[in-house]
Amino acid sequence: MIKPVKGFSRLSKKEKIEWLAGTYLKDQPDDVETLKQYWNEDTRLQQLHDEFTENTLSNFYLPFGLAPNFRINDRLFAVPMTIEESSVIAAASKAAKFWLDRGGFKATVINTVKKGQVHFTYKGDKKKLQNYFDKIKPVLLESVKPITANMEKRGGGVLSIDLRDKTDELENYYQLHCRFDTKDSMGANFINSCLEKFADVFEAEAQRYEEFTAEEANLEIIMSILSNYVPECLVRAEVSCPVSELSEDTEMSGEEFAEKFLQAIKIAEIEPYRAVTHNKGIMNGIDAVVLATGNDFRAVEAGIHAYASKDGKYSSLTHASIENGEFKFWLEIPLALGTVGGLTSLHPLVKLALDILQKPSAIELMKIVAVAGLAQNFAAVRSLITTGIQQGHMKMHLMNILNQHKATKEEKAKIVDFFQHNTVTHSSVVEQLEKMRKG
Ligand code: MEV
Repeated sequence: MIKPVKGFSRLSKKEKIEWLAGTYLKDQPDDVETLKQYWNEDTRLQQLHDEFTENTLSNFYLPFGLAPNFRINDRLFAVPMTIEESSVIAAASKAAKFWLDRGGFKATVINTVKKGQVHFTYKGDKKKLQNYFDKIKPVLLESVKPITANMEKRGGGVLSIDLRDKTDELENYYQLHCRFDTKDSMGANFINSCLEKFADVFEAEAQRYEEFTAEEANLEIIMSILSNYVPECLVRAEVSCPVSELSEDTEMSGEEFAEKFLQAIKIAEIEPYRAVTHNKGIMNGIDAVVLATGNDFRAVEAGIHAYASKDGKYSSLTHASIENGEFKFWLEIPLALGTVGGLTSLHPLVKLALDILQKPSAIELMKIVAVAGLAQNFAAVRSLITTGIQQGHMKMHLMNILNQHKATKEEKAKIVDFFQHNTVTHSSVVEQLEKMRKG
């Protein structure tokens, strides 16, 4: 029977692996070898990766690819993408090329405000709480000066603090609702440090506020944390062209394509089952660039999906229109990203990705990421309403199946050739490979 392990984090890497091998991988020495196979020979680089997180045993690779030919606001970008799913980078590249000759992508950042809250409970006279807040607000702002000094030099800082009464939703619950500008950093540490300072001062000063009764002075801080919902940190990406120019590469006329495309978008707008998959396709592009540039994809995911439900029902993040013969397709999403701080200067591949993107500011990166999402969605919907996605998908998946079955270079070439004219399914590929191997 397996017993709980004590003090695991204090073991060396070697000891952790020994414990794992002796506990969960008893008859699988190959698994331990796999862990070691992924160590980097460069010990300095390995140590860097080990120290990103805790209890590190090895490294986990994801492909790092490039989607070239993205024309964004008349600048040409090659977009680095980190993603394991086949077809995504091919689809992004295809969409980039499609729009390259049709005016490219236009992207605008609408605003860049991030938020955080100090959540607290207070039992007593609401008017007194408001008076206390009005009095203490300058003290709160002053108290974070040591934290905000550098950010203010870069033009950012605390934008506002408001007291919000939430007692109609939860008894005795109030919050300090704070808005921040964190410039080129994602700003999580900055925001959380400011919030925790606000909370300390707010709680301590309450004890000295003469108007409060003892119970009122004992307001209780529940927690202080940034919000990953950033509907005031918005970016919009857009493409447009005459409907007649949409026909290339498809068997439909431009008009037919535009109408069918619009219908597909409308379905995603009103039908949550479709909207989730539709938005998942958008996230294929967004996450891949967010990951390559060392940003927090969980935060981005959470914020974007919340935004997709902002009108009370989960809906499409992209929209389309046809007006006066002009097809327009756009995406509007909240994105809190950083191009300084965090992993950006630590992870060599993240630094490389940012170099490829010509060292963007956070605002520029927001535009690139939004464009990647829009391009991905265009490519997906285009396939869905024309050939279906399996055709392209299975061709790309073919390579994964061949690798799984350890096909040699020669076998791969022959099988890829065979499946130019045959339908790819997992079983048909395996069957063909076996046939070939039997001669
Ligand atoms: C697959 O990863 C993404 C798609 O399902 C997106 C979509 O259906 O729009 C193709």
